[in-house]
Amino acid sequence: VVLVVDFGAQYAQLIARRVREARVYSEIVPGTMPVAEMLAKKPKAIILSGGPSSVYEEGAPRLDRALFEAGVPVFGMCYGFQLMAITLGGSVDNNGRREYGRTPLHVAKPGSTLFEGTPDEQTVWMSHGDACSAAPEGFTVTASTDEVPVAAFENDALRLYGVQHHPEVMHSTHGQQVLEHFLYRGAGLEPTWTTHNVVEEQTAAIREQVGTKRVICGLSGGVDSAVAAALVQKAVGSQLTCVFVDHGLLRKGEAEQVEKDFVAATGVQLKVVDAQERFLAALAGKTDPEEKRKIIGREFIRVFEQAASEVVADAGAHGEQVEFLVQGTLYPDVVESGGGTGTANIKSHHNVGGLPEDLQFRLVEPLRKLFKDEVRKVGEELGLPSEIVWRQPFPGPGLGIRIIGEVTRDRLDLLRDADAIAREELTAAGLDREIWQCPVVLLADVRSVGVQGDGRTYGHPVVLRPVSSEDAMTADWSRLPYEVLERISTRITNEVAEVNRVVLDVTSKPPGTIEWE
Ligand code: XMP
Repeated sequence: VVLVVDFGAQYAQLIARRVREARVYSEIVPGTMPVAEMLAKKPKAIILSGGPSSVYEEGAPRLDRALFEAGVPVFGMCYGFQLMAITLGGSVDNNGRREYGRTPLHVAKPGSTLFEGTPDEQTVWMSHGDACSAAPEGFTVTASTDEVPVAAFENDALRLYGVQHHPEVMHSTHGQQVLEHFLYRGAGLEPTWTTHNVVEEQTAAIREQVGTKRVICGLSGGVDSAVAAALVQKAVGSQLTCVFVDHGLLRKGEAEQVEKDFVAATGVQLKVVDAQERFLAALAGKTDPEEKRKIIGREFIRVFEQAASEVVADAGAHGEQVEFLVQGTLYPDVVESGGGTGTANIKSHHNVGGLPEDLQFRLVEPLRKLFKDEVRKVGEELGLPSEIVWRQPFPGPGLGIRIIGEVTRDRLDLLRDADAIAREELTAAGLDREIWQCPVVLLADVRSVGVQGDGRTYGHPVVLRPVSSEDAMTADWSRLPYEVLERISTRITNEVAEVNRVVLDVTSKPPGTIEWE
């Protein structure tokens, strides 16, 4: 394992992903972890991330020198670079030589392990207020910028390396190469961590954990639960029962994708619960977004519990026990819940498909070590339908929070039609993987006047909310080509009778959230 030591901000996750893109397995540990504990994990290499602190601030993260004396190759980036410099006797000062954004880097080869084979002049992404003014003794300075004389250094004999910039950011033109040079040349690692190996490893781990017991899994229509279920199916096939609660709030074709395509691709035993009427009844007359979320979450748990107890009873009748529940927990959730950086609760993101609190199961979490893009690769490796593998993020409460106003069957049907048209056109234009997601929102309580043929209409507007994002924490509105917007607008107003107006949301997040509710 390569350890990525997290000094804050969001750099560590990106670095860990880049290391894995180089097919080397990596894990994130907090910067506050004692060095002895880090070394006890027997890392093959250690990367120190950037972070928002200044080494001069009181209480800024520090590192025990022992980290650099254990013979483990270390690569410091940005804040990690400065920490390395001061810990090993170099100097860092805050004399105003700050750099932010794209910066030309002058590389002083030859003989540099990190920069070998990269251009003498390259663009890197900088973000620092302090600057390193002298490398520690025994280190060679390998790069500089117009502002900063020591922008990279290395000591090949000790296998210690550092750069002031952020190689993990795509704006650093040779960042991935520099990182790979560290991993392969500096640390002598091999690129052996592949999707195929992940599948083999996980299925073996599931077999080991589950033994001969039975397993239950809730499917939501999303990629995480589908891939988790498919892995468990591959591992212990006949012991798994999947439950799909059809709450009627999915988009067009999605229930069929689960009930037909997913089953055909994996051969899982599926129990479908048609709960559409129940959800509609519970949502009748409700318009407050948080109340809708709570109702959907609550009903989901009740229906799922009922279905689960039937599966348990059925197994019991055959003298078997259902002991395990599959969860599609991903690595960022694991890191973030361990990180404990309390974030404000802006919306109660009730994860439909989440774990009912009082269900007595042990968890099987085969995606616990994976990032989202890796989950998709595993899904492809397992032969799942591409509509499921490449499904864009979709909120658990589904269309229930994309109808602004009361949720009714008619409104759901017309939103489903409008949404399907938008998705079709975005797919046809090849934009699926460029946009993060594109909610289509029905302003059900707003009426707008229109004219169609010779007649006046009094219909509803729908809003298109295409956004680009890395992680949904922040987002920008997508600049879709006018021709695509035109086709979506024309088709929706022609084909969905009750809609006579299509509007585009051009708000970033913040201040707007991605969903309207
Ligand atoms: P917002 O609207 O908060 O959305 O900017 C950020 C991301 O979360 C999704 N989202 C939800 N997901 N339950 C979920 O499972 C929810 O209640 C929920 N609300 C928003 C949203 O689609 C976006 O990807």
